[in-house]
Amino acid sequence: MKKQLKKLGVLTSGGDAPGMNAAIRAIVRSAVYNGLEVTGIHRGYTGLINGEFQKFNGRSVANIIQKGGTILETSRCNDMFTVEGRKKAIDALKAEGIGGCIVIGGNGSFRAATAMSEESDVAFIGVPGTIDNDIWGTDYTIGFNTAVNTALDAIDRIRDTASAFERIFFVEVMGRKSGFLAITVGLAGGAEQIIIPEIKMDIEDLCQNLRESFKRGKTSSIIVVAEGNTMEGTINIAKYVEMRLKVESRLCTLGHIQRGGSPTARDRILASFLGIAAVEGLLNGKNGTSVGEINGALVYTPFKDTWEKKKEIDERYLKYMPILSL
Ligand code: F6P
Repeated sequence: MKKQLKKLGVLTSGGDAPGMNAAIRAIVRSAVYNGLEVTGIHRGYTGLINGEFQKFNGRSVANIIQKGGTILETSRCNDMFTVEGRKKAIDALKAEGIGGCIVIGGNGSFRAATAMSEESDVAFIGVPGTIDNDIWGTDYTIGFNTAVNTALDAIDRIRDTASAFERIFFVEVMGRKSGFLAITVGLAGGAEQIIIPEIKMDIEDLCQNLRESFKRGKTSSIIVVAEGNTMEGTINIAKYVEMRLKVESRLCTLGHIQRGGSPTARDRILASFLGIAAVEGLLNGKNGTSVGEINGALVYTPFKDTWEKKKEIDERYLKYMPILSL
């Protein structure tokens, strides 16, 4: 007979993303609304193993919807790669009486949750939260929209100084092994070129494209580079282009600036919808799945698909970039 869920736990894991707090808030309030007890687990899986629990009620999550980061804090926990580590985590959940656990995080966090849902009778549901947007089973992950807008603001500022000095600017954005951030920010920021891991680019072609753009009268350029590009590292790309084109360039790595800040309305709403869907999923007996939104509809996707399948970049970005950067 199926056990009735009385208490759920919620944790955030891996890289924080703006909107995680909105998701925590939605989960806690939806749990309370449905008559469940809810425990906040601090510092991700590390805190779970150490039993860093806090009893939550509706008021515990007041005034957090607008905050970046995560009030639960987060960690990257190597213990989750071992059966022993995961057993400690499961034992901690059971000792606390938690029958269902909601993990807000990215690929790595979902892998650990997949294993624990198979190795125990605790139910696990994932809420996709990462600025990388590299999770299958949802059009957008929580935090992506905010990170795009933060990076875009930086690029708009860089554009001012790039044109003032007639320089080439290389702007490196995050995204781990995926180019979603770069391609979105690049198109919206009017970049001349975008370098992403999904598309192999020859450095001589890059130089040639830049030469042609100067011939067309451009005096400055912005090249958005995804950190996971398969070329020789952004600094080396910049140096090579300087050498070949005899121009001055600058490199700006946006780094963790992209991860912080108040979430956009879009991220807050996505996080709220997905948080509620995660609680409802647990109440309806779902386990080993992630929640997501595809074409505006709520979907539950088996954990394995979320990290085994590769979300494709919308081909319009690639097709239209050369036209838009003429
Ligand atoms: O996954 C989110 C992310 O910000 C990636 O874009 C980036 O590669 C990574 O995390 C950075 O991780 P850390 O904060 O551990 O340096």
